[in-house]
Amino acid sequence: MINEKFAIVADVIKNRRSIGGAKMNGKRIADTTVMELLELAHWAPTHGRTEPWHFFVYTGDALLQFGLDHGALYWNNTPEETRMQATREKLENNIKMVSHMVVSVMKRGTNEKIPHIEEVAAASAAIQNMLLGATALGIASFWSTGGMTLKPAMKQHLGLGNEDIVLGLIFLGYSDEPAKPGIRNSSAADKIKWMN
Ligand SMILES: Cc1cc2nc3c(=O)[nH]c(=O)nc-3n(C[C@H](O)[C@H](O)[C@H](O)COP(=O)(O)O)c2cc1C
Repeated sequence: MINEKFAIVADVIKNRRSIGGAKMNGKRIADTTVMELLELAHWAPTHGRTEPWHFFVYTGDALLQFGLDHGALYWNNTPEETRMQATREKLENNIKMVSHMVVSVMKRGTNEKIPHIEEVAAASAAIQNMLLGATALGIASFWSTGGMTLKPAMKQHLGLGNEDIVLGLIFLGYSDEPAKPGIRNSSAADKIKWMN
C-alpha cells in the first residue's frame, strides 16, 4: 500500500544522484548538518550491533591538505613509469569545491562471530543513509573510490588495521547544476525471481 511516507522515501531514493566535486560550487554546509547526516548513517542495520561504520570528516584547510596528501600517496606509491602528474593534480584539486569529505570506513571489531562481509554490508548501508539524507536536504553527494582510496597506502595513512576497509570518500557540497536524470541499464524486475 503506497502511502505518503513511502512516496517521500521513494522520491528521495530515486532522485539521489552522484554529483561530482567538479560540479560543486564551494558553498559550505553547516557542520551541524553534516552531523545530522552522520547520525542517519549511525542508524543502519547492524548484525550483532557491532556498528562497524567509522567516519573521518574533512573540511576547510584539512580537506585541502587531504587532497595534497592523496596526491602524494599516489605519487609515492605508483611506479615512475606509470605515474602521471595530471593524475596527481586531479587528486589534489578535485576536492576544492567540495564542502565536506567523509572518509567512510568499515572498522573490524572484536566480535568474530559476525563475518567480515556483513560488516562491509552494514557500513555500506550507513553510507547510503548519509547519501539519502543529503538528497533530502538538497545537498549534492558523490561516493568515490578513485585514486588511492582502496589501496593499502590509504589505510596506512588513516592508521587503519589490516582487516579494516576504506569503503569510499564521500564528497558533500552544494551544486548549481541540476542533476542529470538517473540511468539504470535494466528494470528492477530483471533482477527478481519470484517463487510463488
Ligand atoms: C562503491 C561505489 C564506488 C564508486 N566510486 C566511484 C568512482 O570512483 N568514480 C565515479 O565516477 N563514480 C563512482 N561511484 C558512483 C557511480 O558512478 C554512480 O553511483 C553510478 O554512476 C550511478 O549513478 P547514480 O549514483 O547517480 O545513480 C561509486 C559508487 C559506488 C556504489
